Amino acid sequence: MISRLWTKLGKSSPQKAEMPQLDKVPDHVAIIMDGNGRWAKDRGLPRIAGHHTGMKAINRVVRAADKLGVKYLTLYAFSTENWKRPKDEVDFLMRLPQQFLEIELEELIQKNVKVRMMGNKTDLPSYTIDAVEQAMEKTKDNTGLVLNFALNYGSRKEMIDAIKEIAGEVKDGHLSLEQIDEQLMGGKLLSSDLPDPDLLIRTSGELRLSNFMLWQLAYSELWFTDIYWPEFTEIHFQEAVLQYQRRKRRFGGL
Ligand code: FPP
Repeated sequence: MISRLWTKLGKSSPQKAEMPQLDKVPDHVAIIMDGNGRWAKDRGLPRIAGHHTGMKAINRVVRAADKLGVKYLTLYAFSTENWKRPKDEVDFLMRLPQQFLEIELEELIQKNVKVRMMGNKTDLPSYTIDAVEQAMEKTKDNTGLVLNFALNYGSRKEMIDAIKEIAGEVKDGHLSLEQIDEQLMGGKLLSSDLPDPDLLIRTSGELRLSNFMLWQLAYSELWFTDIYWPEFTEIHFQEAVLQYQRRKRRFGGL
């Protein structure tokens, strides 16, 4: 809210934040990048201009996460519900991974970043999936930050698919009911090789999860900001990590 007020007053947000402690950095940060449309509308621009500027914010956040030593960064880029948007907007969004990777892949490689994706590949256009798969192939041996794009991702579908797989194994006699536990379920999800997010950031002032990593976020710290995604900077990322570091995580204990 405060930064929106600053913007309205024609001033930029404060340029400096206290630096987070480097020994208490969240391993996994997940972000719901929201507010592209409203950012564009406020400026009399078409919604796609917001998405395009939103794409540029990704690079800032990757740099900020990498600098702090975050190990996994998951970005909600396109949900299974986003297909309901007008075709022009969907087409534009589908082009963004390719555009982003054309501009940024060299730097990602140089930064030892490993690109990953989670979501349903089958409905995505070939140019989208080819670009992501090519980036995954080129960065597969990298050992630094894992940059995980949630693309055509929906948490309920992910859980239903996992449950169907488990049910099938029970039906075939390969699994007993007693063997079904949190670890087994987690292993069937699209994030099976990632730890659960420690910190979830959502921009634009909306306070909901929007079908994003519902299982994995069970004990994550949530941080919401009024800042629209296209104006999200390294300073905001540092502020989120700083707030995370001030929380006491109890995981249901005392
Ligand atoms: C939500 O804002 C944002 C999206 C649905 C798309 C997010 C995508 C990007 C930021 C770029 C993706 C780029 C790559 C490389 C994958 P909204 O459109 O719902 O905003 P609004 O709520 O203000 O309308």
